[in-house]
Amino acid sequence: MKILQINSSARSDVSHSTRLATRIVERLRDTDPQATLTVRDLNHAPHPVLDEAALDALFTPAAQRTPEQAARVAVDDALIDQIKAADVVVLGVPMYNFGVPASLKNWIDAISRAGVTFRYTEEGPEGLLKDKKAYVVLTRGGKYRDTTADTQVPYLKTVFAFLGLTDVSFVYAEGLALGAAMEQAAIAQAHEQIEQAVPA
Ligand SMILES: Cc1cc2nc3c(=O)[nH]c(=O)nc-3n(C[C@H](O)[C@H](O)[C@H](O)COP(=O)(O)O)c2cc1C
Repeated sequence: MKILQINSSARSDVSHSTRLATRIVERLRDTDPQATLTVRDLNHAPHPVLDEAALDALFTPAAQRTPEQAARVAVDDALIDQIKAADVVVLGVPMYNFGVPASLKNWIDAISRAGVTFRYTEEGPEGLLKDKKAYVVLTRGGKYRDTTADTQVPYLKTVFAFLGLTDVSFVYAEGLALGAAMEQAAIAQAHEQIEQAVPA
């Protein structure tokens, strides 16, 4: 099994989403000690934003790219190669201002490439990242599960399904800013969800 862990918290050691994502990875490795792990921390190693120069580079035929354009496309290619190679993707995703962190949006913009990770057919779009399992840990200061204020889950479900990632399990740790007792309970509940979602 090849595991890809994507951390998107702007925090390092104290990040709940990273810690819980790491817990999922530990359980996966317990079930398969041969499993390999690639970690991309989007805080320590941010991916560049999809700006005009990046778009120009992507839409210029490979043979005609300048060295700078080739280098810009190559950093996206590296992320695409990582997710294509993975059997399981584990993402740590804090809620920032009701959405996903900008760093994660940059990662999604990088891996979403027509003809490579999805394509358009006469029957409609087809995701090309097939036969992968995804786990998404959602951490929030408040509680927004199953409310219209939660833009994260509908967005992630939509974009992942578009790319072919249809088997996605979500783990919620909510109410983390609502006092120490609530925080502790939320983390304990998240661990229970992980135990159910990732069989030992
Ligand atoms: C810039 C910023 C924006 C945030 N926006 C929200 C929000 O819109 N809703 C919410 O419930 N919590 C919000 N929070 C709280 C975080 O989701 C919460 O602290 C979470 O634990 C962060 O994940 P981490 O522990 O992995 O860093 C925000 C925190 C930060 C730093």
